[in-house]
Amino acid sequence: MPVTTIEWTNNQIRMIDQTKLPEELTYLEISDTEVLAEAIKSLRIRGAPAIGIAGAFGMVLGVQNFAGEEKEVFFKQLKETSEYLNATRPTAVNLSWAIQRMNGVAEQNKDKPVAEIKEQLLKEAQTIWEEDRKICRRLGKHGAKLLKDGFNVLTHCNTGALATVDYGTALGVVFAANEEGKKLHVYADETRPLLQGARLNVWELMNESIDVTLICDNTAAFVMQQKKIDCAIVGADRIAANGDTANKIGTYNVAVLCEKHGVPFYVAAPYSTIDFNLRNGSQIPIEERAAEEITEGFGKRTAPLNTKVYSPAFDITPNELIASIITEEGVIEPPYEINLKKHAKL
Ligand code: MRU
Repeated sequence: MPVTTIEWTNNQIRMIDQTKLPEELTYLEISDTEVLAEAIKSLRIRGAPAIGIAGAFGMVLGVQNFAGEEKEVFFKQLKETSEYLNATRPTAVNLSWAIQRMNGVAEQNKDKPVAEIKEQLLKEAQTIWEEDRKICRRLGKHGAKLLKDGFNVLTHCNTGALATVDYGTALGVVFAANEEGKKLHVYADETRPLLQGARLNVWELMNESIDVTLICDNTAAFVMQQKKIDCAIVGADRIAANGDTANKIGTYNVAVLCEKHGVPFYVAAPYSTIDFNLRNGSQIPIEERAAEEITEGFGKRTAPLNTKVYSPAFDITPNELIASIITEEGVIEPPYEINLKKHAKL
């Protein structure tokens, strides 16, 4: 049974501190937005759907202690909370999507007493949380049809329970196929620089007793050349209307390699990750991370002092490299520009 990454309990957020994995499974209890913002920025919680849920509960925290009935001040505080949390990580659209949904609920209830608006906000955050659990399982079932018994699957980054409430997207597809009794083997890219593949994906797969082999990111080409990979499945942080996909840096490398070796490259993501406001991937904002994550990763200096570093956290895979996009509404085939909209419950 996969872990629960984030939940609301005792008027606060309880979440796994993912920076401590795989050595320690420890939980954080968070009751203010500053601590939450730090947790998001430093990847104590990460993965697009999980960040969205953190943002939704964060909106509750932002006004939880608001006393009185001054609506104008209440809505100002809500707006400040939205902007503050939205700025923590720019690429995963699930964050702004969830915050927008929360603001929508506050707006719909604006004529009610403050205590009631607060109640509605918590209810909405819990609905988003519950929906994620169901959506991931539906997505997993759709995607599992693409995996045959005995398949070798390549993964990049972490896309399992730790990136959602408790199941996963791309890794959820692997879990669903495993639950159907298919025997799979996963090659997990370690995923430089922060090793979400090695630390988190491998941890989750081992917990589920799914056969997994860790590879360095630069080994992916060779294992494909050796015909050891049947398909690659990755997650997404934001998908533009034409299917161009932002995901963890190195995903584009995997897609190019798949094309060269005739290996199907799948993206798995819920509809909340699709940004129909953006025509193509060039419009997706890409987060850049601190140099130290590369030069002093995990407490060891790996490059001379003052080394210049370029560290985008995500890259864009053009839609033509994507064989299918697996969603909770089914497996979507190209042309994505038409088919993503067609299956959307907007
Ligand atoms: O920087 P991270 O760890 O938040 O990046 C996560 C990813 O790139 C995931 O692949 C993506 O969010 C999908 S998670 C279901």
